[in-house]
Amino acid sequence: MSETLHDIRLTVNDVVHDLRVPARRLLSDALRHDLGLTGTHVGCEHGVCGACTILVDGEPARACLMLAVAAQSCAITTVEGLAGPDGSLSPVQQAFAECHGLQCGFCTPGFLTTITAGLRRDPAPTRERARDMIGGNLCRCTGYQNIVTAVERAAQIGAAR
Ligand code: FES
Ligand code: FES
Repeated sequence: MSETLHDIRLTVNDVVHDLRVPARRLLSDALRHDLGLTGTHVGCEHGVCGACTILVDGEPARACLMLAVAAQSCAITTVEGLAGPDGSLSPVQQAFAECHGLQCGFCTPGFLTTITAGLRRDPAPTRERARDMIGGNLCRCTGYQNIVTAVERAAQIGAAR
């Protein structure tokens, strides 16, 4: 029996996309496979690692725990949407580059989106709050010290802009 497909419209990084997907299509798969936005990484696929974190209406969300059909009325931001229109790095991206906040980079998109939202809520976190901010994201390269330093540096860059 063939699977029923649904016509949906997703708004990702301010671009509207029409696509046809089965009801069970994960948002992470729709982003990566249907839209070619492979910056959103998939690690555990059950909500634990945070690699797939995107912003949904500005708030961090696990793309592997959402169905694409449920995201139609939302404004989605992926890591591809963090840089400026001219390609300039966002404060969080710049801070990661300066502070060696990534090693293999697999976890990085999830950290960048998480911290982007976190600094909107708390623009000048203490180191302890910076640690809390990334508490839901796993880095298999265990680069946490530099990532926390990058949170602090991103706050400085953001404040200076
Ligand atoms: S892939 Fe979504 S939380 Fe790990
Ligand atoms: S940099 Fe390798 S998993 Fe985090």
